[in-house]
Amino acid sequence: MTLTRTQVGIVGGGPAGLMLAHLLHVAGIESVVVETRSRREIEQTHRAGILERDSVRLLVESGASDRVLRDGHEHTGIDLRFGGVSHRIDFQTLVGASTWLYPQTEVFVDLADARSRDGGDVRFEVSGVSVLDVTTDRPGIRYTDAEGGEHEVRCDVVVGADGSRSTTRALVADRRQYFREYPFAWFGILCEAPPSASELVYARSEHGFALVSQRTESVQRMYFQCDPTTSADDWSEDRIWAQLQADLDGEDGFELRTGRILEKTVLPFRSFVCEPMRHGNLLLAGDAAHTVPPTGAKGLNLALADVRVLAEVLERAISRQDRTALEEYTPRALSRVWRAQHFSYWMTTMLHRSAEASDFDERRQLGELESVVGSESGSRYLAEAYTGWPEPTQSTTISATRSTAAEASSAREASASSTVSGTASGT
Ligand code: PHB
Repeated sequence: MTLTRTQVGIVGGGPAGLMLAHLLHVAGIESVVVETRSRREIEQTHRAGILERDSVRLLVESGASDRVLRDGHEHTGIDLRFGGVSHRIDFQTLVGASTWLYPQTEVFVDLADARSRDGGDVRFEVSGVSVLDVTTDRPGIRYTDAEGGEHEVRCDVVVGADGSRSTTRALVADRRQYFREYPFAWFGILCEAPPSASELVYARSEHGFALVSQRTESVQRMYFQCDPTTSADDWSEDRIWAQLQADLDGEDGFELRTGRILEKTVLPFRSFVCEPMRHGNLLLAGDAAHTVPPTGAKGLNLALADVRVLAEVLERAISRQDRTALEEYTPRALSRVWRAQHFSYWMTTMLHRSAEASDFDERRQLGELESVVGSESGSRYLAEAYTGWPEPTQSTTISATRSTAAEASSAREASASSTVSGTASGT
């Protein structure tokens, strides 16, 4: 048995675990990350692609990624499409903020590179992970490496960032779990085609929901609502394009640019929260503690928001020996989590068709969409939630997002890409 002593042991080397390890490194705190998958396997798993303004800020300001500003695409709004007509929700005009299209796989690559660059200790392809003694001041992680060697890591704190199928979560003895299942799923495709729209289109039609997203000039990401029991193999390319086009048809003649389909996946929907997010010296982060349906792209952003709070709390607990700081983690993280749960649920139920929906439900749903696009207050709620609620400490962000529409337009120059790139270069 090889024994390693470190300050923070992190189970899970996805974006949450690696971002936390990076932030701790910046704060002068050592960590060891253990991950069951290989780096290559994580890099090849396609996930959502939208980063909130403060997620971009965190990546850039912490020195984890400058590529997000070079290779990512700033989106200043989305289209909500219903009744065959597109309605623009202009984030910049409404709240002076943007989002960035930058796929989760790229975030992972940047974080893994940053860990290698900074000499971080990340151990991929381990098995048999178990977490020990979380209610003592010397918790640990045991695992077997790819060659069969046995290892133990002893630390001050263990963080469970091991995704939605978390095993560390089970150690939160007094946890309460909140679930919601949905009667639909998303059928996601990656295809070789030029972009059909320059920014995201969230569409609701009598056939169901569709989302037009992008990846590069020649590869696109799209989704449509499907039955959760459907099999990707039952969908030919022609059937997929017919479904997507039907979801997007309208009087403006919107036409998808089609091409070879490179990947098909069915994504189940679930809302889930585990409370509390801490038990003794074990703290949960990201999907290990909560999952949201993908409508609104909150999953990765919530994970990054968790670890931003967690890094700060751990810095106080470990470097300044203020153990009471750990008590702040659950309430601070959960306040954002439940807002994001509501937003993701709301976007989902507003835009998807349920087989059980009555005519009344259908008309009410259209009334809801009209209320959002037809009212500045309605649109602003969506814009504020979609671009991400500002953290109280970021004063420039708050003043930009809380300003009136008129002020927001002058704040526009100072916000989004210029603020993010400006702060990155220290201005
Ligand atoms: C994506 O590009 O994969 C994406 C974008 C927005 C969402 C979900 C997924 O709400």
